[in-house]
Parts: sequence; structure tokens; C-alpha cells
Amino acid sequence: MTIVAPSILAADFSRIHEEVRKIESSGADWIHYDVMDGTFVPPITFGHQFIAAAQSHTSLTADVHLMIEEPWKHFETYSKSGAKWITFHYEAAVHHHRHIQELKNIGVKAGISIVPSTPVELIFPLLSFLDLVLVMTVNPGYGGQKFLDFCLDKIASLNRERQRRHLNFLISVDGGINLETAMQVKEQGADILVTGSSFFMNDDPGDYVTRLKT
Ligand code: DX5
Ligand code: ZN
Repeated sequence: MTIVAPSILAADFSRIHEEVRKIESSGADWIHYDVMDGTFVPPITFGHQFIAAAQSHTSLTADVHLMIEEPWKHFETYSKSGAKWITFHYEAAVHHHRHIQELKNIGVKAGISIVPSTPVELIFPLLSFLDLVLVMTVNPGYGGQKFLDFCLDKIASLNRERQRRHLNFLISVDGGINLETAMQVKEQGADILVTGSSFFMNDDPGDYVTRLKT
């Protein structure tokens, strides 16, 4: 069963209440929040207060993607703002295993993300501790970019490793997802589709979500 997680990054922030309702009524499962700090990636987006405000309009699961330096300093704050799943970047940390435990200790599902230039094998030793792996299929920082095909092999390789070791972390794919690329990543084993611009630019988001799921 595919989980669809529209990324709020592509929403109209001046009408956040309606945008959250649009996600709910489309039949999507989660809301994906792209937190950027202007250092790990060039743009600054929003922080925990914005997430708390948006979540006050919905009971959908908050999936927080931290594209920030020193993410561990903020786990608790984001958890208090309503995050049920928190994903930090492999490239922004050294003590990955420790940070995964920190997330578990505060009752949050733990995810790690890799940018397109990071080889997926680097996270293999961590897989048994993780609830989610987020494979970025664009260079992080901006919505509306083109899907990078060379990342497909990483999804396939994660899926093989998951089957070989009988693990049950979820594979999430983020960046350039549309109906065509969704099919490609699902074929390789993706469970969660993060979708920003293609969701919010669609005239019929409900139909789009149904198609992503089937
Ligand atoms: C990019 C973000 C993505 C982004 C996806 O750095 O992590 O979640 O919002 O947007 P689209 O679907 O437009 O590529
Ligand atoms: Zn994201």
C-alpha cells in the first residue's frame, strides 16, 4: 500500500488552512514538511511554529524532513510541534546511530535521508535501527526540479537489502515525483511518495493521489 505525502513546500502559505484541507480531502496519507536552514541547503523555509500551526488544522501524520545542520539539537522541539516521523540527513551528522536512538527515546519514528551524491551502501549498517529511509531524487533545497534517474538504482538496492535481511523500514522517495516517475520508483520498491509541485499544481488532487496509489 503506497503512502502519499504531499510536501507543504509547494503550498500557498498565505492560505495554509485551506492547503491543509486540500491535502486531507485528496485522500493523501501524510503531510511532508521540508525544514531548511539556509546552511545545509541555501533556502530557509519554516520551523516548528509553522508546523504546529498547520497541524492544528488536521489529524494527518506530520512527516518532518530536516534539511538543517546539527539536526539532533531540534528533535524534541519538532516532536512537540506534532512530528510523528522525523528524518535527518546522513550528510549532516556523524553519530547517526546515536541520533536514531535519540528520536526513538522521544517516541518519534526515525528516518535518515541521503542526497543524490551519497552512495546508499553507506547507510546499510544503520538499516536495522531505522523506521524510514528517504532517498532524495533531486538535490535538496527546491521544489519543482527534475527527477534524477540515476537515483533509481539506490531504491532498488535498498529494497534488495531490506528483503535479504528481513527488515521492515519504509522507503520514501522525494523530489520530482509525478505520475510517470512514481511508477518508476514504485517498481523499484518505494513505499512513500513525497510530492510537492505536482500535487499543488494539479486541478484534481484527489484523482492524482488515487493514481499515485494504484
Ligand atoms: C526538496 C524537498 C522536497 C520538495 C519536493 O528539497 O525535500 O520535498 O518539496 O518537491 P517536488 O515534488 O516539487 O519535487
Ligand atoms: Zn522533502
